[in-house]
Amino acid sequence: MATDKEIVGSVKEQLAKLFEESLRAAFPDIEDVHPMIAICNDSRHGDYQCNNAMSLWNKIKGQGTQFRGPQPVGKAIIDNLPASEMIERCSTAGPGFINVVLKKQWIAKSIERMLIDGIETWAPKLPVKRTVVDFSSPNIAKEMHVGHLRSTIIGDTLARMLEFSNVEVLRRNHVGDWGTQFGMLIEYLFDKIPNWEAASAQAIGDLQAFYKASKQRFDNDPDFKERAQKAVVSLQGGEEKYRKAWTQICEVSREEFQRVYQRLGVHLEEKKLEGEKLLPCDQEVTGSSRGNSLLLKCKGESFYNPYIPKALDLLNNKGLIQESEGARVIFIEGKKIPLIVVKRDGGFNYASTDLTALWYRLNEEKADWMIYVTDVGQREHFEMVFAAAKLAGWLPQNENDFPKASHVGFGLVLGDDGKRFRTRSTEVVKLVDLLDEAKSRCKLALEERGKATEWTAEELEQTAEAVGYGAVKYADLKNNRLTNYTFNFDQMLSDKGNTAVYLLYAHARICSIIRKSGRDIEELKKVGGIVLAHPDERALGLHLLQFAEIVEEACINLLPNLLCEYLYKLSEDFTKFYTNCQVVGSAEETSRLLLCEATAVVMRKCFYLLGITPVYKI
Ligand code: ARG
Repeated sequence: MATDKEIVGSVKEQLAKLFEESLRAAFPDIEDVHPMIAICNDSRHGDYQCNNAMSLWNKIKGQGTQFRGPQPVGKAIIDNLPASEMIERCSTAGPGFINVVLKKQWIAKSIERMLIDGIETWAPKLPVKRTVVDFSSPNIAKEMHVGHLRSTIIGDTLARMLEFSNVEVLRRNHVGDWGTQFGMLIEYLFDKIPNWEAASAQAIGDLQAFYKASKQRFDNDPDFKERAQKAVVSLQGGEEKYRKAWTQICEVSREEFQRVYQRLGVHLEEKKLEGEKLLPCDQEVTGSSRGNSLLLKCKGESFYNPYIPKALDLLNNKGLIQESEGARVIFIEGKKIPLIVVKRDGGFNYASTDLTALWYRLNEEKADWMIYVTDVGQREHFEMVFAAAKLAGWLPQNENDFPKASHVGFGLVLGDDGKRFRTRSTEVVKLVDLLDEAKSRCKLALEERGKATEWTAEELEQTAEAVGYGAVKYADLKNNRLTNYTFNFDQMLSDKGNTAVYLLYAHARICSIIRKSGRDIEELKKVGGIVLAHPDERALGLHLLQFAEIVEEACINLLPNLLCEYLYKLSEDFTKFYTNCQVVGSAEETSRLLLCEATAVVMRKCFYLLGITPVYKI
């Protein structure tokens, strides 16, 4: 989302620049003091605070300093601040906190500028260039379950936030496209569809049913079982017929996944990187399902196979791999069980693949942040993989240094009974069924409100979909991802409280205020003139301005719920403002309409980052 306009940086960052100058001027002998700026917990004291005085005092006391305590240190910092448009006044409080009150004229100007230059100028600046976000990652021929839904939703949001922050994101779908189950799938394909090579991919039909049937055959037919086991060897040996059958099965699965992604508005897989070398056995898939002809490269588990021996060699050369009970393993300090990298039968596994993938992402793709979105159950696995990479010197010792690998874990989705979310009839809940139900419930609610006669059929359909899908996504994203949450349609589709429905309606209402004013908002933007005279106007304006630092915090900590909290508070601040300040027909109409517009712009960007489609009327 690059913009040719200058990115202004967050309020925190802009304040940090001023305080850095002041710290350098007031304490020239002390090196390496970084300004510590935070939002004031209590807005009565100020908007922001600078917390350097206490630690500075601890550094200089007893060393013949002229200062008599942290407060005078704070005072010196204030006195050395360069002149700026930004700060109204500063004061010290408590043991030396410096409270900062921003000028409301500056807040107003910043919003006016954003309205003209675009919200992209409010993008945070992050210390990374390229990241791999490994998310969704279902397994071929198996059901995409609610866990994969969470991974898809959370991963997509993280990718969107990073992309907005001008980081290049490789949206990686690490699909489980390798393993012994392919022996029986392939053998079953040969049996069931003798002309499989000529037949279209659709001939396989429902892949889950196909999987179940082949499994049943495998369990009950010893002859078939033997053939299936041989098929695995042939596939791994690269025999063409088996390779082809495997490709066909994968393709059917991918198409199925793609349909879910399309409905969720999520895209995965990326273009081949410039200059990236492909091994001859790499699987290349044209992106026809995305409606373009870009050459997409699928980097599922199988992609890393040819690189595994080399990666294990590197680890072995560092003396990290040992023999244990016939397997080859890496011992990690503090872990009871070692990480198995070669199984007793000589085969590779999930861990060898992930170690190799990490190596590939670092060295071939030159990523500086590798992010993995899976349920918390896989935390141990990733801790061990990352620890091994540190031992090998692939990753730095310090957790906070880049290149960095992060596991983004998430909790379970629970049903109303407090147990793992299931439907009555099936073990796993089908993703598409959830989306369908959310949408149809929304449609019903809209029809009850008389929208079927007021709107076109298409409008009704689109709104129901935006609100329904948005509700499912938001209900997932608003919680801290580590906690389990209960899946409840009534709750998530309520138009009150912290739900997507409430927020989408709030946005639509703001749009209707602007529409009904009859004023041309584009013209108003050019004129400007935001005045934040009323305290509720000022509070709303300041909250708008804090968008960049919230996105930054959400990216750095990989916590989408922070953005949800921000968005919800924004709508609350707006409601307060709208309740207490008359907009249309008031003397301040222009200023207040611009404030409405800025709120709508920021809300829309939040929706976009959360993967939610906004609605404009309700
Ligand atoms: N396919 C795995 C599963 O369904 C998730 C893969 C996650 N990514 C990874 N690099 N291990 O559990």
